Amino acid sequence: MTSRRSDPIATPDPAVHLDPVVCPDPAVHPDPVVCPDPAVHPDPVVCPDPAVHPDPVVCPDPAVHPDPAARLTELRAILAEHNHRYHVLDRPIITDEAYDALFRELEALERDHPEWITPDSPTQRVGGAPVEGFAKVAHRVPMLSIVTDAEVGEFHRRVSEGLNETVIDYAAEPKIDGVAVSLLYRDGVLMRVATRGDGREGEDVTAQARTIGSLPLRLRGSGHPRSLEVRGEVFMTLEAFAGFNAAALERGEKVFANPRNAAAGSLRQLDPRVTAKRPLKLYCHGVGEVVDGGEDWPACHDQWMDRFRGWGLPTCPDARVVRGVEGCREYYRYLESRRDQLAYEIDGMVFKVNDLAWRERLGFVARAPRWASACKFPSREALTVVEAIDVQVGRTGALTPVARLEPVGVGGVTVTNATLHNFEELARKDVRVGDTVRVRRAGDVIPEVVEVVLERRPEEAVPVPWPSRCPVCGGEVARPAGEVVVRCVEGFSCPAQLKEVVRHFASRRAMNIDGLGEKLVELLLTQGLIVDVADLYRLHTLRERLASLDRMGEKSADNLLAAIEASRERDLSRFLFALGVREVGEATAASLARHFGGIEAIMAASEAELQGAADVGPVAAGRVWHFFRESGNKALVARLLAEPNTAWSRARVAERASGHALSGATVVLTGTLSAWSRQEAKARLEGLGAKVSGSLSKRTRYLIAGEAPGSKLAQARELGVEILDEAALLALVQGHPPA
Ligand code: IVH
Repeated sequence: MTSRRSDPIATPDPAVHLDPVVCPDPAVHPDPVVCPDPAVHPDPVVCPDPAVHPDPVVCPDPAVHPDPAARLTELRAILAEHNHRYHVLDRPIITDEAYDALFRELEALERDHPEWITPDSPTQRVGGAPVEGFAKVAHRVPMLSIVTDAEVGEFHRRVSEGLNETVIDYAAEPKIDGVAVSLLYRDGVLMRVATRGDGREGEDVTAQARTIGSLPLRLRGSGHPRSLEVRGEVFMTLEAFAGFNAAALERGEKVFANPRNAAAGSLRQLDPRVTAKRPLKLYCHGVGEVVDGGEDWPACHDQWMDRFRGWGLPTCPDARVVRGVEGCREYYRYLESRRDQLAYEIDGMVFKVNDLAWRERLGFVARAPRWASACKFPSREALTVVEAIDVQVGRTGALTPVARLEPVGVGGVTVTNATLHNFEELARKDVRVGDTVRVRRAGDVIPEVVEVVLERRPEEAVPVPWPSRCPVCGGEVARPAGEVVVRCVEGFSCPAQLKEVVRHFASRRAMNIDGLGEKLVELLLTQGLIVDVADLYRLHTLRERLASLDRMGEKSADNLLAAIEASRERDLSRFLFALGVREVGEATAASLARHFGGIEAIMAASEAELQGAADVGPVAAGRVWHFFRESGNKALVARLLAEPNTAWSRARVAERASGHALSGATVVLTGTLSAWSRQEAKARLEGLGAKVSGSLSKRTRYLIAGEAPGSKLAQARELGVEILDEAALLALVQGHPPA
């Protein structure tokens, strides 16, 4: 697991921060620049001055530590530090590339010295070979279950009676819907991870759990117990779960019904390399056995959690200490109101007596402690009946089966529709009209059908056939090899696709045309006021007809026209996203806009060149390239570009107007430029209207010669082609033609 996701929040600009030590103290370095002052870091390993760097920063410079053994130790510390910042604090300070470089350096050292490899080395997260089965592990202190109370008042009454106390502080925590685990550390080094099992005996999932990035292989800091059992929850965030399922669907693989199953299924993989690819997280929420190291251990739960954080063990950021039953109720209301915004799935909350001595006094009943209680939230799943299965046609023609349901409340919201994702999923789940199904809704994810309750299937229920025609336009459908999605191939001539295209174009994150929602788009299309998105910008010529539309009127018409006019100000990045090219989301659109600077350069770029933009892979590049070569799209984009006063084509208009010297010129590049890569240079030149060719001819206007030019230089002299060096090129691009 060397490569990590790039995080735009805290990852500094790789161009600026090639050096992985970044000064984290904003007071010292207001912008997060590399700390350049050796005087600030006299100690090469860790900045010793907490006043300067409250978080220690480690020195990555191999030149400072030529001794391989010392460098190895140091690299492990550096990598563990950055791993902690990334996975636990969510505040990385170096780029993924810098991290990977350090990781590879450590791998190389360990290859040379395999005898130095220890289990707590960051390289050893994914080392384990597939296991045959899971060994049984006895917990040193049993992993208890929790009693559930319908209302927290009942619990508080038992506790205060049991203790004969009135003022009681509780640790209040979300009850995360994941897999309970127990981690065993000896002298700060992770020895074993086990599942809860029956509470006394679980299964050894050490090799699998080691792959979880936020799980420390060695505790940070000092003062660890000789032996420590940590209790926690392994889970998948809702976002990771949705992403994992979407990717599995795309590959035609099985999806998980909920984040809990996804976490459990991922942890119980015999091959740890499979677990390593699953986006699992860990929050620690309790202590098991503690074998001392001479320390005075905390007297309260929240102080233990503070210790945990100091040792690098991740804890839930939404946990609190609350006072009395009122505090518990307030926390319940608070968490319930935030349920849809939480990054993870919860099925309720847990209240635990904070004082550990009081816990001792309260003791246990059966296998549950008297000092803890769970309060459940309304379930996110419910049973209902499928009334019909409709097929929706999306913007890209994808046919999505949707179950129309007998209305049912799920987690506080009435659900009437649930997605079945695609026809393969529908066939796999074998959902039929009349079936009773389990539906699930979590966060702001679209409700989905989890499974059919087969016992309740009516006799007459028959499977839904795969579509042979588009249900909206009656056109042909296709299912390209390797894809699980059936698509209508009619494109813009399919009204359903056209409607979705316009809707997407006008949507908030695209051109943000206020007031142009689904109903109005449909009306404009069916009444023939527009036939494509370019027509929106001609709509002002049809003001009377617009105003006379059903439920429209003068005022609404003018508001809509004003909103359309305002959308001329959207920049290239939004415009690109609005075009709705498959695989081009906001991030890809922004990256393309940044890299190429103008729409022409993007339209002219080859697939390889498109991949020169950050995070643009071969699939997205292929989609973009094909999009701009399809005649219908070309005509549409040309009309949009011809619109006056638009931000997305303003640069182009300005350049055209000034008649840039490069406009229409054929240019050949040779040698290396210091300011731009070959691809960037090509894109810039094309953006100014030049044609960049690979070979010289008499028609070539300029040969641009960088460092170490090739044979083209002599050839150009022979042909009498004008030769420009890099400085002359830069001047030319800025609008100063060569003298
Ligand atoms: S404390 C005796 N805290 O809920 C108390 N459990 O039966 C032991 N769970 O599967 C558990 N979030 O893993 C505790 N913040 C939390 C929790 C939590 C989820 C799980 C736990 C177990 C079940 C409790």
